[in-house]
Amino acid sequence: MEIIIQKTPEDAAALTAKLIAYRLKKVPDMTLGLATGRTMEDVYAYLCRLHKEEKLDFSHCHTFNLDEYIGIPPGSLYSYRYYMNRHLFSKVNIPHENTHLLNGMADDFAGESQRYEKLIKACGGIDLQLLGIGNDGHIGFNEPLSSLRSRTREKALTPATIAQNAPLCGNNGDTMPHRALTMGVGTICDAREIILLATGTTKAEIIAKATEGPVTAMVTASALQLHPNCKIIVDEDAAQCLKEKEYYHWIFANEPEWEAFR
Ligand code: F6R
Repeated sequence: MEIIIQKTPEDAAALTAKLIAYRLKKVPDMTLGLATGRTMEDVYAYLCRLHKEEKLDFSHCHTFNLDEYIGIPPGSLYSYRYYMNRHLFSKVNIPHENTHLLNGMADDFAGESQRYEKLIKACGGIDLQLLGIGNDGHIGFNEPLSSLRSRTREKALTPATIAQNAPLCGNNGDTMPHRALTMGVGTICDAREIILLATGTTKAEIIAKATEGPVTAMVTASALQLHPNCKIIVDEDAAQCLKEKEYYHWIFANEPEWEAFR
């Protein structure tokens, strides 16, 4: 695991987007795992800019989103399909049929989850998975005590997640779903490379727990410590509670891999 600390949230999002763009240019038909949420909005805005100004080409890649709310139709303002169309898919040249999300309106959630796992496999697995982190340490919607080997399935959301996401769902107890379909921790960790982006003081404590604390199902993001190719990109606010900041800065300044991005 590597931890990269950037000055501002904008810098952290820009570095994340540049890394994605770098991989996409090298392997245009790559399979990208995507996340939603407030933190990702700047990343998608930057990618859209690269598409517009530098012709970053999305026409051959496939995307798989981490999760989708149960009971929210894809056309709803609050669905993750709507979020992705709005922030990325409608602004770049990715064919609609290459963009995959779980169907939160499926009749059979176990069957829908299996379909998704099979489709990821059929696309050759995920090359690069983008992640945010919940205030309770979730990745995807893998809430505390999710098995660290879990696969795609239905999950109940915790009160902390419901409170965190309600403002994005009209801040209304009726519109904020309490259940979701999500890739499992095991599914996420099968990705060849992972980038987790976190910004702001509200993420500071959980970032320290997930990266410098023990690997535990109580903080599912801590499973990333076991991943062979995982980068955690944070701004200074989200890095506040980290004990080894100097070491992380030193690595970033000295790793040749980062030369193109410093
Ligand atoms: C969203 C997802 C979640 C979010 C996390 C952070 O697809 O999987 O894990 O990444 O809840 O959300 P924000 O960025 O809104 O704080």
